[in-house]
Amino acid sequence: MNHVIIAGAGHAGIQLADSLRTEGYSDRITLVDAETGLPYQRPPLSKDFLAADGTPELVPLKARKFFADKDIELVEANPIVSVDRHERAVTLANGDRLPYSALVFATGARTRRLVAPGADLGGVHHLRSADDATRLRSELAAARTVVVVGAGFIGLEFAAAAVDRGLDVTVVELGPRAMGRAVSAQISEYFQRLHAARGVRFVFDQTVSAFEGDAERVRAVVGGDGRRYPADLVVVGIGVEPNETAATDAGLRTDNGIVVNEYLRTDDDAIWAIGDCARFPCRHAGAPIRRESIQNAVDQARTLAATLTGRPTEYHHSPWFWSYQGKTKLQIAGVARGDGPITVVGDPGEGKFSVLRFDETRLVCVESVNHPAAHMAARSILSTASPISQEELAIVAFDLKLAARLSRTA
Ligand code: APR
Repeated sequence: MNHVIIAGAGHAGIQLADSLRTEGYSDRITLVDAETGLPYQRPPLSKDFLAADGTPELVPLKARKFFADKDIELVEANPIVSVDRHERAVTLANGDRLPYSALVFATGARTRRLVAPGADLGGVHHLRSADDATRLRSELAAARTVVVVGAGFIGLEFAAAAVDRGLDVTVVELGPRAMGRAVSAQISEYFQRLHAARGVRFVFDQTVSAFEGDAERVRAVVGGDGRRYPADLVVVGIGVEPNETAATDAGLRTDNGIVVNEYLRTDDDAIWAIGDCARFPCRHAGAPIRRESIQNAVDQARTLAATLTGRPTEYHHSPWFWSYQGKTKLQIAGVARGDGPITVVGDPGEGKFSVLRFDETRLVCVESVNHPAAHMAARSILSTASPISQEELAIVAFDLKLAARLSRTA
């Protein structure tokens, strides 16, 4: 009998199990996870879950009934520790050995740790899992002075929640601007000003050399230039690293991600990788990349379900992403390669606008602030095969909704 084993019950793993059933796969599916309890949504953990009011609850990705109804075995707190590729079998942490016909790594990513003296002091947090968020939330009530290391998505989402609670917040960032990995300079600047206006202090081009503490608890973050930033709570959000050890140990190619082809398959015919842990050839980025987003996890899972049920399908979805920072919503459609021409539509002064990014010939990325209609239109335009140029968009006065309608009827 066929047996699909999925390592990792996050957005990618659960979606794959679900889509396999939708596509008519009727043999055995086992979802193996390292964590205990029902798989849950991660995005709220750095946002609503930390908000001052209310009793936060984890939002399950699927109810317990889903697994029974769809005949999906969920193995909790028992990750895969080794893969026998020759015999096509995995060994779990408790010693159980399970044979597979297809093995899918959907193992996600873990937070990157900052290696510095004092990094293990009390009050120094990372934010990825429900346990991380619960620990952090329990300390927020008593906190006064917070240092956030990293002005990426996690750092800024947390900083917004912390100033909302009236805390004193300083963000220390290695690079020269906020969210520098992912957004244009215009969006960086907008969000920096937004957070600064609410009281967040930013320190750019600064490393962290140590965490100082007394009685086991952090009291300050020390910058690379020796400056000290007082803190009774620290959140480190300096990016993530793929969970790829089991794949590496099995002799599969890894390179900041488990290396797969257009079909999301590794060099082994029976082993695949999807979601945050997979390094795949991306037509939009023009290079092999790893993408950390729910869209990517879900769309790769759906694509692979088609392949595993007899319809080989390449993965070429146009990416999109979002981040809530306080009450401000950032949505990104597409991907920009470097700094090309840009056009700003809407009004940054009113907090509702989009930055349209072009390469030499076409629209490649749209970053929208509180501008959901533009974001949806951008997704529609960017998912069509025919690229739209800056000149063509100028003809319709950069009205993305109109351009989307026209490109659908073209
Ligand atoms: N000190 C200070 N800042 C650092 C350091 C350091 N030693 N190392 C890296 N940084 C900065 C980076 O320059 C970057 O601006 O940390 C920031 C990390 O930002 P992201 O890459 O966006 O990572 P993070 O915010 O941790 O989010 C991780 O979670 O929300 C999801 O999918 C989202 O990819 C994102 C992931």
